[in-house]
Amino acid sequence: MRKLYIFDTTLRDGEQSLGITLNVNEKLEVARQLEKLGIDIIEAGFPASSPGDLEAVRTLAREIKGMVICGLTRAVKKDIDVCAEALREAEQPRIHTGIAVSPVHMEKKLRFSPDEVVETAVAAVIHAKKYVNDVEFYAEDAFRSDPAFLVKILEKVIAAGATVVNIPDTVGYATPWGYGELISFLMAKVKNIETVIVSTHCHNDLGMATANSLAGVMAGASQVEGTINGIGERAGNTSLEEVIMAIYAQKTLYGVNTAINTKEIAATSRLVSRITGVPVPSHKAIVGANAFMHASGIHQDGVLKEKTTYEIINPEVVGIPRNLIVLSARSGRHALRHRLGELGYQLTQDQLDGLYARFLQLADQKGEIFDEDLHALMGLNGRQNRIVLKNIAVSTNGISSATATVTLGVGEETLTDAACGTGPVDAVFKAIDRIVGKTVKLEDYSLKSTSRGSETLGHATVKVRYAGGSLIVGNGISTDVIEASTKAYLNALAKINFG
Ligand code: KIV
Ligand code: ZN
Repeated sequence: MRKLYIFDTTLRDGEQSLGITLNVNEKLEVARQLEKLGIDIIEAGFPASSPGDLEAVRTLAREIKGMVICGLTRAVKKDIDVCAEALREAEQPRIHTGIAVSPVHMEKKLRFSPDEVVETAVAAVIHAKKYVNDVEFYAEDAFRSDPAFLVKILEKVIAAGATVVNIPDTVGYATPWGYGELISFLMAKVKNIETVIVSTHCHNDLGMATANSLAGVMAGASQVEGTINGIGERAGNTSLEEVIMAIYAQKTLYGVNTAINTKEIAATSRLVSRITGVPVPSHKAIVGANAFMHASGIHQDGVLKEKTTYEIINPEVVGIPRNLIVLSARSGRHALRHRLGELGYQLTQDQLDGLYARFLQLADQKGEIFDEDLHALMGLNGRQNRIVLKNIAVSTNGISSATATVTLGVGEETLTDAACGTGPVDAVFKAIDRIVGKTVKLEDYSLKSTSRGSETLGHATVKVRYAGGSLIVGNGISTDVIEASTKAYLNALAKINFG
């Protein structure tokens, strides 16, 4: 069995493509969860792209030990200098530098001749090697490049000191046979390929990213790059959880092992979805709400007789424990702590006491409490906003017209204001804007229930933008959808730097 390195780019290719800015604390929270998941390499950002990314890479480099922390650069000296500075405190730093290699990118985007591209690539690797030993080279749009040219540039960057070579299908054009063939060809033709790790990096434009990555592994790649929930540019990147579980389910076929703790997959997926505000479709492989549900009578009959009739993966393996206890207002702290423990949450006595009060309040409102409710309670537990919601009063006046009066605690002060809007949520958001004295642009709003039943919790997600800055995500939950929406808006405002 050879080791397969799992390279997570949720915080770089994932985040960058959504137009969302995660703040440093959010990136750190995701990174700590990726650490629990057993990821080998975290690509923390593109430091030269913004001060925020620089700060995030610097923070992760300082805080996350025992794994490789990587930063992306173009094949540009200044980018590499900034990245090296951001990675200065990393225990295991990696610079990921590269350049486009396909004819269309070289001619039309870069306006470089192939020789200039080779020269720039080699110079970038040599420059990065001055700072770190571990240098990964990406050949952007490799799948659409001339294979002979790809061999030439890879031999040169490896000779210059690259330790990993990344073969991206940047535009998601490959299908598994072609991508596997390209990796086999490079394994056979690049003279010094044995001295480096070959990496896959696939995009999902044709829905093939997972299959292409697996084909690459079959052909000899020892690193797979991707994101949690497959978030990323356009149709997304390779879903790491899918690759990991395909290899888990068919170990002997792939002949590789990973350091992944599969039981952390569900928790990681939930965290990334909440922090990025990108929902996971219910039918999504491995992490979708229905991924382990059996709906049809024939299937239900089968799994009741023998689970493996219709179940290829035990849900407990990905961190979805089977539930034997029904939680309700009659449940005590012990049962609550027990179920939270099974779901991967460890609480101190104080935290449990605080949560138990909210649990009882919710159980009184909705009867049975499902795992999804517990995740919702835990997901937003203890997050203190600078601005606290004290009261909301809403009245609707016919259709598409409402008035809201909102009272907020801002620091020591209690402030109240009212506004009209096209509906209750719009009126509440406008009243809040009046209280804080800022106009924030609401770009996206969604509301979903966290679980089953008419008394379920509403989970509101907003995406807002202030003064042309980047998108900020806010989340709020409550049995009252207006309150959930208000909390989500306040959660987003708390992350904005109003300057
Ligand atoms: O898709 C791509 O080519 C990339 C590189 C920058 C690694 O994301
Ligand atoms: Zn990419």
